[in-house]
Amino acid sequence: MDDGLDMRPSHGNALLKFAAVRRYIEISNTAMQGKWIRRNYVDLQAGPGKNRIGRRIVFGTPLIALTANFPATGFYFNELDKSNFDALSKRVNASDLKNTTHLFNDDANDIVTTVCRDLERQSGLNIAFVDPEGLEIEWSTIERLARVKRMDLIINFSTSGIRRAEGAGYYEVIDAFLGRMNGDQYGGLHRVKFGCRIWFSFTGNAWLYWLPNNYQKCWRVFKLYFSQNLT
Ligand SMILES: C[S@@+](CC[C@H](N)C(=O)[O-])C[C@H]1O[C@@H](n2cnc3c(N)ncnc32)[C@H](O)[C@@H]1O
Repeated sequence: MDDGLDMRPSHGNALLKFAAVRRYIEISNTAMQGKWIRRNYVDLQAGPGKNRIGRRIVFGTPLIALTANFPATGFYFNELDKSNFDALSKRVNASDLKNTTHLFNDDANDIVTTVCRDLERQSGLNIAFVDPEGLEIEWSTIERLARVKRMDLIINFSTSGIRRAEGAGYYEVIDAFLGRMNGDQYGGLHRVKFGCRIWFSFTGNAWLYWLPNNYQKCWRVFKLYFSQNLT
């Protein structure tokens, strides 16, 4: 439904992302709702909450999480862009779950510390979704999330952004995004090159993978992962 607020213009391939995130949330909510008093959902780059895909209007990931069955008991939504943030805030305020939602208008690489500290005080079960537009997320942000106990991480990123950076010789940017492997410069690049081939045979238009967050630097991009930190 068009509520007159800002929406994110998206392509059809975003539907794959929404379907995957929705499915993961549903499975987790259904399986864990009777087992954990506290269950948190974190969206570090939440967008405005709704997307326009051609003539269709579809929920973005924060609204998918808010409207799921057996929803999380706590939500952490962050969005850097002010107009996106304002639209998201209004949509969240219209939800019955507004009192359990924390909203931040900050850089994900900065706010991650605040969010993780709050999660660590709760001893709950956590899902974090990271959904960069380009290569703006730093590896240290992923590492910080991965240190939170009982954390599932879902990360969606564009391989074309990495390819463009590679083509332009911006290896430092790639390293900031992927982290260095064993301290080697450009260590991530080889993994990405390998991963791209697999990726294209997988869906052809978006790359979703689950990072095994307690492996950190040992992850492999050529595999689809469901990641859990069970400690
Ligand atoms: C691909 S969209 C994700 C939208 C949302 N996850 C969804 O699928 O509905 C990425 C969002 O991140 C925001 N963004 C870009 N850089 C950011 C940063 N450094 N920190 C936080 N948000 C950022 C953009 O404004 C954009 O809304």
